[in-house]
Amino acid sequence: MSKKLYIETYGCQMNFSDSEIVGSILSQNDCILEEDINSADIILINTCSIRENAEKRVFNRLRNLKHLKKNNPLLIIGVIGCMAERLKEDLLKKEPAVDLIVGPDAYRDLPKLLNDVNLGGKAVQTLLSEDETYDDILPVRIDSNGVSAFISIMRGCQNFCAYCVVPYTRGKERSRDPQTIVNEAKTLVENGFKEVTLLGQNVNSYFWKENGETVNFSKLMSMVAEISPLLRVRFATSHPKDLSNELIQTIAKYSNICKSIHLPMQAGSNSVLKKMNRKYTREWYLERVNAIKAAIPDCGLSTDIIAGFCGETEEDHKETLSLMKEVGYDSAFMFKYSERPGTTAARNYENDVPEDVKGRRLEEIIALQGELSLESNKKDIGNTFEILVEGQSKRSKKQLFGRNSQNKVIIFTATDEKIGDYVNVTVLDCTAATLRGDRVKEI
Ligand code: 5AD
Ligand code: SF4
Repeated sequence: MSKKLYIETYGCQMNFSDSEIVGSILSQNDCILEEDINSADIILINTCSIRENAEKRVFNRLRNLKHLKKNNPLLIIGVIGCMAERLKEDLLKKEPAVDLIVGPDAYRDLPKLLNDVNLGGKAVQTLLSEDETYDDILPVRIDSNGVSAFISIMRGCQNFCAYCVVPYTRGKERSRDPQTIVNEAKTLVENGFKEVTLLGQNVNSYFWKENGETVNFSKLMSMVAEISPLLRVRFATSHPKDLSNELIQTIAKYSNICKSIHLPMQAGSNSVLKKMNRKYTREWYLERVNAIKAAIPDCGLSTDIIAGFCGETEEDHKETLSLMKEVGYDSAFMFKYSERPGTTAARNYENDVPEDVKGRRLEEIIALQGELSLESNKKDIGNTFEILVEGQSKRSKKQLFGRNSQNKVIIFTATDEKIGDYVNVTVLDCTAATLRGDRVKEI
């Protein structure tokens, strides 16, 4: 009889995409996806190690799941993803309820490893690979709205930002065969999807070479954009050091490539950027932003910011605030620095900004971003945008929401529109988080 599989995902979009690959591998090996955790025979937790808090959440969750084994002694609980890779066998000692530990490059072994667990005992596989891209696996879509989907185009990262655990948990960078990416996007279009997001830790360094022909990220974006003018194309995430003029031109050229760039700045001071091993300066970053603004005046810009990295002074922090203002981000993900074992920063620098100072700096960053987001949203009032309807608003079934090309969420009152429609909406009012508008029939 088929086993019922429940997958729970933490962390980044890449992890959500990986869960869909895992779902696909196991669906072909006598498992069926189950939505109710209490009925599952196998529970896999796809985990994140990026900050200590991300790991703490998973440990709490594992503790909460223990009781399910009392009702069902044959239940298998597996930890997959970045925490599996980082902690390996140690996880078994910390959490005896765990039966299975599988790192991000070993998902093809899951059927065999589950079998090993069924025979009694525990299974651990955390070998990283230099060439695994799961390129032949068509993911099953989990929790899908049937409209937008992620496509993983590369794996791993070798930038070694001093604070970051990813190069250790996901291994070396490798790109996936572009033809398999295009085929996956075509299949999504055939199944009614309207938007794809091409995913990688640093998509700008995507590179494929075959029979003397090369495909870089700009080329890949145009190949996907040309599948259908009704397919929106997005991407995440970019490293500023590799953001090329060619890519900016490609985004400007295709109307179905969304005008939205996530460009993590991390910090605004050159000495902090250097210590972080980001390989660009504040001036270089601003020059790239200006190049984007010149070529794509309506481009949405978002970023990631870390408060309180090792050695960050009050002056450095002020430079982060001033860079935020200079760019005028539409939105940002903002974090307190969290030391991760094994990283360059953990090995070489002192985590010397006191917790309360980190907290206060983060609050200042969040408050400033609130002002910038509100300012940016206010500018949209009176303008009309084409949005792709993604779902119902939480408050009312009559309210639908979608995103515009700039990646801003807009809520409107539905008449006969449905999820998956392209709709023109004029913005009437806003908060820092959302825009509210009315449908217009013609622009
Ligand atoms: N502490 C805090 N934030 C971090 N990030 C990555 N590593 C850390 C860390 N050790 C943030 C970066 C990155 C985002 C995904 O998470 O801003 O861009
Ligand atoms: Fe978390 Fe980074 Fe792993 Fe994604 S790649 S799950 S953000 S540690």
